[in-house]
Amino acid sequence: MVSVQTTIGEFHFDNCLMNAAGVYCMTREELAAIEQSEAGSFVTKTGTFKERKGNPEPRYADTALGSINSMGLPNHGYRYYLDYVTELQEQPGSKPHFLSLVGLSPDETHKILKDVQASDYRGLVELNLSCPNVPGKPQIAYDFETTEQILKEVFTYYKKPLGIKLPPYFDIVHFDQAAHIFNQFPLTFVNCINSIGNGLIIEDEHVLIKPKNGFGGIGGDYVKPTALANVHAFYQRLKPSIQIIGTGGVKSGRDAFEHILCGASMVQLGTVLHQEGPEVFGRITAELKAIMTAKGYKNVADFRGKLRYFNN
Ligand code: SIN
Repeated sequence: MVSVQTTIGEFHFDNCLMNAAGVYCMTREELAAIEQSEAGSFVTKTGTFKERKGNPEPRYADTALGSINSMGLPNHGYRYYLDYVTELQEQPGSKPHFLSLVGLSPDETHKILKDVQASDYRGLVELNLSCPNVPGKPQIAYDFETTEQILKEVFTYYKKPLGIKLPPYFDIVHFDQAAHIFNQFPLTFVNCINSIGNGLIIEDEHVLIKPKNGFGGIGGDYVKPTALANVHAFYQRLKPSIQIIGTGGVKSGRDAFEHILCGASMVQLGTVLHQEGPEVFGRITAELKAIMTAKGYKNVADFRGKLRYFNN
């Protein structure tokens, strides 16, 4: 029997596949559907200090090769998600969860995290440093100074397991600089990658989404090579206690296999989950297990990070 079980920090997951923040995670009903699916866990929609309506519609579009979105962090406010995961964790058989959070300023982020620290929630937090879609608010993790400052302050009071959701980086020097910062902190994981920010997709002569005159985060097939490169770059550079979650372009068992080969301990589904619904976890799990069986791997640790290179 092959196993797709995995761990992140102290948490055990029966399946290394789960949703990506932003997909199937806005309401309790959507989160319950992921909880009841074959997914190993769920991550909530990123909760902000106050609830948000987000950007004007249309703000998401599927394309033949993936998707574009400029949702603008619509959400019910962090307390809605904090209450739900705190409630769920007391239920027998509950999976461990990820609570995605960010403030619209460092001050708001600290207020939220101090509240989570003081709460009964015992699960993981994913601090979203990478949303490209809030007009006037740049992706935090592209500003290394601010990122370091936020993490420095967070870890003075936040003592529960916490990871960060990263934007894609595109330069080796940036991988080095980012890893140097992250290695200074007791992060449990980094999640690579959020959408590739501010792409533009055109049909006939028209943009596909309304916010920002059509600019939006790109997901799906377009982003898999960038996602794999980021997963592997951080797998090579981060201290072993910081695990990697791989997100981007996964629509088959083969894609999940490649993320794990690059070093991912858990793999998230975004665009494909939006397109196919929670049954997709069953399909991709079966495909991943078939590949593992064919290659003689019994569990994901057997091939995690074991990407092969040409001999130098
Ligand atoms: C959004 O709500 O705009 C997407 C979330 C994200 O990219 O972090």
